[in-house]
Amino acid sequence: MKKIILAFALTVVLALTGCDNTTAVTESTTATPVVTVMTSSGYAPYEMVDNDGDLIGFDIELMEAIAAEAGVTIEWIDVDFSGIIASLQAGQYEVAIAGISPTPARAEVVDFSNVYYNTESGLINYLIYSDDASYTTLDDLDGLVIGAQLGTVQAEMLQGIADEYGFTVELRGSNSLIVEEMKIGTIDALLVESLAATEIVNANTDLTSSVFEYSADSFYGNAIAFAKDSEYVDLFNQALATLQENGTVAALIDKWFTTAETTTTASE
Ligand code: ARG
Repeated sequence: MKKIILAFALTVVLALTGCDNTTAVTESTTATPVVTVMTSSGYAPYEMVDNDGDLIGFDIELMEAIAAEAGVTIEWIDVDFSGIIASLQAGQYEVAIAGISPTPARAEVVDFSNVYYNTESGLINYLIYSDDASYTTLDDLDGLVIGAQLGTVQAEMLQGIADEYGFTVELRGSNSLIVEEMKIGTIDALLVESLAATEIVNANTDLTSSVFEYSADSFYGNAIAFAKDSEYVDLFNQALATLQENGTVAALIDKWFTTAETTTTASE
């Protein structure tokens, strides 16, 4: 899977000294491995596309920093979240960073890096819904249509308890599609992790959120996923450890995740 390209760097230095027009030319050749990394944008603050069409967000900057530390170049590919694990499993691509929860079930078919973000307050699940509703307990969910992004732990969690609590689950390829449906009334609520919930509620003032009670055993943190036995696991773990020690990861958390503290909780 690993693609190697040769990058030829030609540095031309023109040095003009004194009254003599002296020209110095320096040439150097470097080879950097290129690693294709999958992500799935539309998941602020982890990964999103800015107005110029560029990928930005916590995961993007973290991965670029890891790559720089590990001496590789990233080639990004933006895919549907639901295809990521299967794509790694099939060996189509070797690495993915997408706010992925390293669950035991996934760990059977892919490898994971060490966890790069794991504060409970940032990862607990929130239910988002219209601010003229108030769903604060699982019993409030009876009869509702609740959405989640296809292939996520949130989707799986909802499906596991839908019958017990009497709600219906609708899965879509992105959270923004679900938010659109909440506006037209075909879906009542959306389940997401709190950092993503904060972004969605801040961007949609007619929505509010509350902690999803049934979150206790869903707390895994976020990790980079790899094709099984990828040579990049150790390399990227070492780079991640360095970035954790030298404060780079903390600075990125500070830059992208500061809004975590302001997540709203619906009043009873
Ligand atoms: N943490 C959840 C999971 O691993 C959701 C991740 C969704 N990520 C995304 N880029 N849309 O299932």
